[in-house]
Amino acid sequence: MNSSTFRHPASLATGANRSQLLYEIASGASGLALAIFMFGHLVLVGSILLGARGFDGLASWLEDAWIAQPTVVLVLVLFLLHAVMASRKIPAQLRERRRMIALARDLKQFRGRSGSAFQPHLESMLWIWQVRTGMVILVLGSFHVLLLGVDVLTPLFGEGAGIEAATSTARVRGGLWPIYAVLLLAVEFHASVGLYRLFVKWGAGAWLTRPTLHRLERIIFWIVLGLGALTLVVLAGVLEPPLAFLLDGT
Ligand code: HEM
Repeated sequence: MNSSTFRHPASLATGANRSQLLYEIASGASGLALAIFMFGHLVLVGSILLGARGFDGLASWLEDAWIAQPTVVLVLVLFLLHAVMASRKIPAQLRERRRMIALARDLKQFRGRSGSAFQPHLESMLWIWQVRTGMVILVLGSFHVLLLGVDVLTPLFGEGAGIEAATSTARVRGGLWPIYAVLLLAVEFHASVGLYRLFVKWGAGAWLTRPTLHRLERIIFWIVLGLGALTLVVLAGVLEPPLAFLLDGT
């Protein structure tokens, strides 16, 4: 090969390639931070299982220590950053998306031939559903985070500024529960599949096989979905807080 036409791979990592890598890191890091936040969120909102006292106690502590206020702003920034960075890869045309679905279906015919328990068409379908759930989260999640921003930063709803069990349960019971149910399903799917894809992308396959990673993804999905659903039925007033007895007499 003529030495003047040969380019060392390292020299290709310039300009556009380098920005692609930076976008990839920004989208992965913001996604990871949001997934970690959602575990903390599960504890915050799940404190309603202890009753209004448990919920209000935790919320007041987070607000008095000035943890809640900057967190809401940070989550909003991360949320928008992640949406912009991750949406770069969404096929702009519906036609392209249809083509991807058709390709994913075609890949189904290879089921079993490779001997692998985890088939390529499933990976494609997971990606497509990640795009769909991402769109749902962008709309419903923005509404929710702005609503909570108003709660935490202004005394517009409730007695004063801050998160309160009375306000939260009243609005969930008053009609927000279907929105939260859809958001919950979309978030838990998006976060668990997102973590799975992130781990595969950044080399976790060196220690764990894909079927194992996929099993872990499903375990995380069902645990967080179960706890989130239990929290939601308590917020909606369908079930009394099951752990309220723990704070009785304190
Ligand atoms: C910005 C920080 C956030 C705070 C302080 C917060 C706080 C809360 C609170 C207090 C509730 C109870 C219902 C209500 O008051 O309306 C709630 C419910 C909920 N939040 Fe958030 N939230 C935040 C961010 C997010 C994000 C980014 C998502 C996902 C995109 C999310 C998803 C949900 C879901 C699905 C529920 C329904 C209850 C459940 O978990 O089962 N939240 N949140």
